Amino acid sequence: MSGESGKALTREQWGSRVGFILAAAGSAIGLGNVWRFPYLVGEYGGAIFVLIYLLINVFIGLPVMLAEFSIGRAAQKSPVGAFRALSVSPLWSVIGWLGTLTGGFLVLSYYNVIGGWTIRYMIESLIGLMDLAAEGKSEEFFLSFISVRHQVVAYQALFLASTMFFVASGIGKGIERACKFMMPALFIILLILIFRSLTLPGAGAGLEFYLMPDLSKLNGKSVLAALGQSFFSLSLGLGIMLTYGSYLGREERIPSAATWTAVLDTLIALLSGFAIFPAVFAMGLKPGAGPGLTFITLPAVFAEMPMGMFFSFLFFLFLFFAAVTSSMSLMEVSTTFAIEKFKLKRSDAVWLMGVIIFLLGGYSAISLAGDPKVAGKDFLDAVDYFCNNICLPLGSFLVCLFVGWFWLEPALKELSNDGTLEARWWLKVWIWCVRVVAPIAILIIFLNETGLLTTLDAWLSR
Ligand code: PHE
Repeated sequence: MSGESGKALTREQWGSRVGFILAAAGSAIGLGNVWRFPYLVGEYGGAIFVLIYLLINVFIGLPVMLAEFSIGRAAQKSPVGAFRALSVSPLWSVIGWLGTLTGGFLVLSYYNVIGGWTIRYMIESLIGLMDLAAEGKSEEFFLSFISVRHQVVAYQALFLASTMFFVASGIGKGIERACKFMMPALFIILLILIFRSLTLPGAGAGLEFYLMPDLSKLNGKSVLAALGQSFFSLSLGLGIMLTYGSYLGREERIPSAATWTAVLDTLIALLSGFAIFPAVFAMGLKPGAGPGLTFITLPAVFAEMPMGMFFSFLFFLFLFFAAVTSSMSLMEVSTTFAIEKFKLKRSDAVWLMGVIIFLLGGYSAISLAGDPKVAGKDFLDAVDYFCNNICLPLGSFLVCLFVGWFWLEPALKELSNDGTLEARWWLKVWIWCVRVVAPIAILIIFLNETGLLTTLDAWLSR
């Protein structure tokens, strides 16, 4: 970012369009792509999930991202302030509140737990993980790791501490810059992994699982999960992309920035699947293994490679950085909140929020060993479900309603840079998506899966 002091009313702005895209992609690309996407694909029937996910990304995810960027750039404020500034009704600022509580606290709390896994795996890569994996014991290793509570909590703390350190010291920008190197590096290691995975004997079955949709596996649960994953992976529905948009210069093109961000994010998720599924099938592992899938499968693939230890270490290091840039964007939300609400110094705000988030995340961390449970799910799963299948869709739904029905003209101005960008066909498609397609689809998917649609139907046909 380059400062724009001197000029009144201008916020700091991103140094360049590439800088902005990298920062937005830094928030978007993280554990969602490499950890969450593959395990959902495995759990929800393979290719059919991938297909729905792609459709949702194009017709719902991308339009919501365009909407968030536009609101942010127009308002030049944080989420709560933005809705206050742009609308007559203060009710809309509920979107900002919802985002702050969900993103800045809940999502972040369990994100740290999984982030901690990357640190453990980075270290273990160097001291024996490869030997265990070569003996076919990577699943055993994973299960024994998550069942030792104090270890999981210790790594959670370590990951949270890294996030806090970067957010507090304001060298977050440095980290983002480092990501200019980390992200392409992650990409290259993924390509190498894919090559190894695809050339394992028996890989074909995995490709089939990943690429040939089986319609019989389609159901309301998988569609809702794909919807939640789209928002989670693109960092939507929490006001985070809105905040990033507020730093975007007036001359930049929102449509191309959003498209790039979404394409890069989707690409990394798809590549992770190509690295994982052929190997899962070749090695006789289970695609529906749940949250451990990536962490069980990839060490087994590395163990089959020359210099596996080295690649495994680098891979988890890069994944750690990708995860930190995402958790930084989440922690920024709670920190700004504490600074504004309680008038705290930045470093104090980070400490206060860090403690709260640690305690909250601690429940998720220990729940991996079996307790505490909420509604039959581990606490971590329950929080994840609540955030991604309820809060993020709700936030995005409200953003669509706001932009599509109450703030359309100004949004069109933002998207077309005051009409100087040719208003092409995509603008019309976007209007449709944001006014009709996205809100209705979100509503139906949500009501269907939660059983409310059946209740409604029964009530209507009385
Ligand atoms: N998009 C991030 C990831 O895929 C996670 C995230 C979600 C970050 C929501 C910010 C907001 O890992």
